[in-house]
Amino acid sequence: MIEITTIEALRDWRREQRRGELRIGLVPTMGSLHEGHLTLVDRARALSDRTVLSVFVNPTQFGPSDDFDRYPRDRARDGELAATRGVDCLFAPHTSEVYPEQTAITVSPGPLANRLCGASRPGHFAGVLLVVLKLLNMLEPDVAIFGRKDAQQAWLIQRMVRDLNVPVTIDVAPIVRERDGLAMSSRNAYLDRTQRSAAAVLSRALEAGHRAFVGGDAEPARIIDATRAVLANESAVVVEYVEVVDPEALATPERAHDRSVLALAAQLGATRLIDNVPVGAGLSADVFVER
Ligand code: PAJ
Repeated sequence: MIEITTIEALRDWRREQRRGELRIGLVPTMGSLHEGHLTLVDRARALSDRTVLSVFVNPTQFGPSDDFDRYPRDRARDGELAATRGVDCLFAPHTSEVYPEQTAITVSPGPLANRLCGASRPGHFAGVLLVVLKLLNMLEPDVAIFGRKDAQQAWLIQRMVRDLNVPVTIDVAPIVRERDGLAMSSRNAYLDRTQRSAAAVLSRALEAGHRAFVGGDAEPARIIDATRAVLANESAVVVEYVEVVDPEALATPERAHDRSVLALAAQLGATRLIDNVPVGAGLSADVFVER
C-alpha cells in the first residue's frame, strides 16, 4: 500500500494507473476506521482494480459546537487496517493541502439539506459536498463508495453527481452493525458502558417500525409511533427526530412503501447517533459483524 499526502502525488499515482486502464474505486472517510469503513473497502475492491481510501477529518462539515477537535484520530492504526484489508493507496492529506486558502466557491445542497440531520446541523452538508466534490476532482475515480449509515449524505452526494454531471458512479453500501444491532460509528467510542448498552435500543426501535409496516401500518405516523414507543423505554436516549422519507425527494410519503426509509437521530449524553432501515426490509437489509 502506498501512502500519499499531497494532491500532486495522488494525481501522479492516478496517471500511472490510467496508463494500465485500471478502474479506480474511492472510499472517502474521516478515519478512525472500523468494520463499517472496511466493508466499503471490500466493496470498492469488488467494483474496481485499485482502491483508494481517503482519511481526512474535514473541518468544513463541523459546526462551531461540534466535535472537530476531539474527533478520534489514529493514523498508524488506520494505515495498518487499510493495508491489511487490501487498500492500494491511502490518501491522508493535511488540512492545508485540501484547504490552502479560504474557499470562495462552495456547493449549496439546497432544500434537501434542511431536513433530517440538516435541520440541527446547519452548513454540515454543504461542507460534506464540498470536500467530496474536491476529493472526486483530485482523484477522478470511476466509482466512489458510501455507506447507507449516513443515508442523507449518500442521497445528497448522488444528487450532486447527477446535477453537476460529475463523471463517477456512486455506490451505496448497507450498514454494518454490532451484534446487538448498534450501527458501527467512529463516534461510538465516546459512549460509556451504560450509554453503550442503552444505544442498542436505536436499532430495536427501527425494527419495531419495520414490523409495524409489515403488519399493515403504511401510514408514516403509525410507523413513527411504533418506533418512538420502543425508544421511550430508554431514558438515557433523547430523540432528535424519527422520520419516514423517500430517498429521492427526501420527503415524507403519504403512505410508506418498500423503498421508504425509517431514519432517526438521538442523543446519548453528549454523543449524537444516527441510524436508519429501509421500511420494507428492516435490519435484514444490513450486515452484522461476527465478533
Ligand atoms: P465517516 O463518518 O468516516 O464515514 C465514511 C464512510 O463510511 C461514509 O460513507 C459512511 O456512511 C460509511 N460508514 C460509517 N459507518 C458505517 C457503517 N456502520 N456501515 C456502513 N458504512 C458506514 O461520512 C463521512 O466520514 C464524511 O462525511 C465523508 C463522506 C468522508 C466526507 O468528509
